[in-house]
Amino acid sequence: MTVPTPHINAKEGDFHKTVLMPGDPLRAKYIAENFLSEAAEVTNVRGMLGYSGKYKGKNISVMGSGMGIPSISIYSHELYSFYGVENIIRIGSCGGYSEDVNVNDVIIAQGACTNSNFMSQFHLEGTFAPIADFELLLNTFNKAKELGIDAKVGNVLSSDNFYAQGSEGWKKWKDLGVLAVEMETAGLYAEAASLNKKALGIFTVSDHFIYTDTILSSKERETKLNDMITLALETFAE
Ligand code: HPA
Repeated sequence: MTVPTPHINAKEGDFHKTVLMPGDPLRAKYIAENFLSEAAEVTNVRGMLGYSGKYKGKNISVMGSGMGIPSISIYSHELYSFYGVENIIRIGSCGGYSEDVNVNDVIIAQGACTNSNFMSQFHLEGTFAPIADFELLLNTFNKAKELGIDAKVGNVLSSDNFYAQGSEGWKKWKDLGVLAVEMETAGLYAEAASLNKKALGIFTVSDHFIYTDTILSSKERETKLNDMITLALETFAE
């Protein structure tokens, strides 16, 4: 297959080597408009907006992933396979499971468990453990320290269910040390592994399964979100 692909109408060379991927395409637009210079929209199929531009004079692209493993696997597969993208950094929100994290904390996903059947395509005689690229993780962790951000590193769950019916199942994941739940990263890590590319997931904790009455103002949320965006841009623009 050549470009454009079924889900991305950018031209060859439109994407830089590293793409930041928020779930929400309007967040990609927000990043392009508020953090980048010379930002140009490069794709908009189904409203899944993507941009390339510069952060402090250095190259970076940003594109929405949509929600869930099926959606992020489509966009990451096409970016890696047909647009020469080497690194995809998911920047998103997650729900806290562990007492070790609180609302507003930054989490870097060292590994991503899943209840999805996505890995069945690999026909393994066992289970695959989706992990972050170590160098991307280390660079992000070190940059966070430099910026005074106390990033927690560990396992997350990439769940197929946002609304888990009557389930207390999250406690079992928590008992295995899983820090938080989101819905994409295991699929992204598996795509990267299968295509010999690199990936990382960074999140802010937007809600918590234990600390359910922590209420944040929209200003607090925006500030923390901007901190995570800045961390990703400072680490990955090149
Ligand atoms: N579940 C799944 N994904 C999420 C959540 C959640 O509770 N919070 C933020 N992203």
